[in-house]
Amino acid sequence: MANTLVVGMQWGDEGKGKKIDQESEKHDVIVRYQGGGNAGHTVVIEDKKYALHLIPSGILRADKLNIIGHNVVIDPEEFAKEVEGLRSRGVEVSSRNLLVSHRAHMTLLYHKRLDVAREAFKRKKGKQIGTTGRGIGSTYVDKYNREGIRVFKLNNMDELAKKVEENLEITNFLLEHYSDKPLSLDEVMTGLIKNRELLLDFSHNDIGRVILERDGKVLGESAQGTLLDVDEGTYPFVTPSNPTIGGFYTGTGVYINFKKVHGILKAYTTRVGEGPFPTELEDETGERLRQRGHEFGTTTGRPRRCGWQDLAIARYAIRVNGINEISLTKLDVLDAEKSIKVCVGYNINGQKADYFPAEQMENCEPIYESLKGWEQDISGIRSWQDLPKNAKSYVSFIEQFLDVPVKQIGVGARRDQTIDRA
Ligand code: IMP
Repeated sequence: MANTLVVGMQWGDEGKGKKIDQESEKHDVIVRYQGGGNAGHTVVIEDKKYALHLIPSGILRADKLNIIGHNVVIDPEEFAKEVEGLRSRGVEVSSRNLLVSHRAHMTLLYHKRLDVAREAFKRKKGKQIGTTGRGIGSTYVDKYNREGIRVFKLNNMDELAKKVEENLEITNFLLEHYSDKPLSLDEVMTGLIKNRELLLDFSHNDIGRVILERDGKVLGESAQGTLLDVDEGTYPFVTPSNPTIGGFYTGTGVYINFKKVHGILKAYTTRVGEGPFPTELEDETGERLRQRGHEFGTTTGRPRRCGWQDLAIARYAIRVNGINEISLTKLDVLDAEKSIKVCVGYNINGQKADYFPAEQMENCEPIYESLKGWEQDISGIRSWQDLPKNAKSYVSFIEQFLDVPVKQIGVGARRDQTIDRA
């Protein structure tokens, strides 16, 4: 067994949930290290669908330890709902199998209100990010402004209330500026008081030690994807955390070596929210991918923008994360395509580029290679040999271009709908 990290190679929603679920069987501890309730991992087990937002997917397997690291921002109300939702479906969720770093910051009611009000304000000027409205950005802003409130503060509710009151002075000023109603201390505290005990039950003061004790058996679970990374992604149209490998280290406070860095690459590309997307298809092909791939957000239900595979982006994700193997997901969604395009670089203002630029992404005109489609249902296929020739050529093209092996191919949402390659 070796430590493994699973990371998204696009703008999130690559289908990480399924791989993380499979890998969790082979590891003892599963660590979610960044993001918050903006994420949504869907895991399908025996036709039962579980949508997880904060809790690592390892919770669905018996005898696994799940850890929420301190770069995750936790909304106590959402956390409680998720715990209770899982429990009501017979899944064990206790401090035996789930720990939350007491250093993690909490998303409070005012963070959510600020996120939504600020987006509405910016939308009037056509400048919105298209956030999930879960208060993620405002929680991280408070964290970096050194105004955040961490989980361990729940041990001292008087101090916590004082801090909330202090923060409300600024927050209410902003809310009123954005033409939203101010919040009272009581409104903010109600949810915290209600969920305090539940969250404290899981709170742990040294998750780093727990992880080191299990070095070699650790699975890192990233949320979102490389292109949404606040430093490496399509800033400012990003999420305010580090889904890339670096986020694991700041989110846990320990160094462990990842022998396997497994990148998840969807057979085509999607993104939700605003921002550049060079291979986007705003035609019936894009609509077909959306319908066939059920491309609607797990967290917000928003239709996802769809487009062709972009290998310039994938190559960048490999470099950023040190990815040494890939899962190509949702290949079956391309079953209906006669011809499939793959972006291998860009024309930027008349100049060829084979890299992903930090600026001018909106000016990137994709350079495509066209491959023949296979035009048959592959959802029942379970071995590489049985895949149609053109599907194999598509996978091999990606593999050769990226120079990283495609170890697994997804042909459907269920756990068993995968093709493993040696
Ligand atoms: P935020 O994370 O809610 O601040 O949203 C910032 C951007 O990241 C928006 O474009 C969101 O749609 C996007 N985003 C956040 N979480 C996810 C995710 O889990 N999958 C895909 N996009 C996401």
